[in-house]
Amino acid sequence: MSRAIRLAGVHKAFREARGGAKVDALVGFDLDVAAGEFVAVVGPSGSGKTTVLRLVAGFDTPDAGVVEVGGAPVRGIAPDRVLVAQDAGLFPWLTVAENIAFGLEAAGRPNPDLVAALVAALGLAGTERRYPKELSGGMKQRVALARALAVEPAVLLLDEPFAALDALSRERLQDVLENAWLAARPTVILVTHSVDEAIRLADRVVVVSARPARVRTEVPVTAARPRDIAALGGLRRGLGLLVRDEG
Ligand SMILES: Nc1ncnc2c1ncn2[C@@H]1O[C@H](COP(=O)(O)OP(=O)(O)O)[C@@H](O)[C@H]1O
Ligand SMILES: [Mg+2]
Repeated sequence: MSRAIRLAGVHKAFREARGGAKVDALVGFDLDVAAGEFVAVVGPSGSGKTTVLRLVAGFDTPDAGVVEVGGAPVRGIAPDRVLVAQDAGLFPWLTVAENIAFGLEAAGRPNPDLVAALVAALGLAGTERRYPKELSGGMKQRVALARALAVEPAVLLLDEPFAALDALSRERLQDVLENAWLAARPTVILVTHSVDEAIRLADRVVVVSARPARVRTEVPVTAARPRDIAALGGLRRGLGLLVRDEG
């Protein structure tokens, strides 16, 4: 199966309040992501980035235009297309370990060893029996990422997954994500506010405008992995300026 993602001419409007005016989140939005490619999307808050991910994940439908994965229109959610939402979206009635195991169990292929490996890799040892409400925001994000990686999805959609983490934890988890991507080569769209995170991880960085989001600039990142951000100063500064101009 091809895992390419295609959005073409996508329109999506929301009514911000009951009876209120409609607001365009996306107007003629175009984005192509090749199978196995890792794309980072950066841009101002409220521009429509989460909307793009939700459309690809199948949680929302476009008002007009095309949203395709593997050459077929997205119709609802699917187990091989996973969104790690901004709020982590954990199941509150399941423990950490049960949350991570959920997708594997649902697919009829439980794998306690894999769950244990992800618990360790994501720095969650000792929290296995806790419930989401007993976790910090950063811990919840770790569990959400573990739950997503556990099923090795063909398409991985990440909405600011490391925003609630301290710098050191963020770098460690970026490594975990990069290694998981190198091992299984899912197609990834990572929405992030961090230019450093984008150029550390992505094959291509897409800068979008304020609402309605449009792709303003696309910058390929060809440096060998694992990347040393310090050696990419020019790219960092250039992208930082582009992102600031859109904000
Ligand atoms: N379910 C919704 N109901 C009403 N407005 C929404 C909804 N989802 C998004 N919006 C609006 O659409 C715009 C884009 O939102 P979003 O995609 O979340 O932006 P971003 O992720 O770039 O911050 C914002 O103005 C937001 O308020
Ligand atoms: Mg968002």
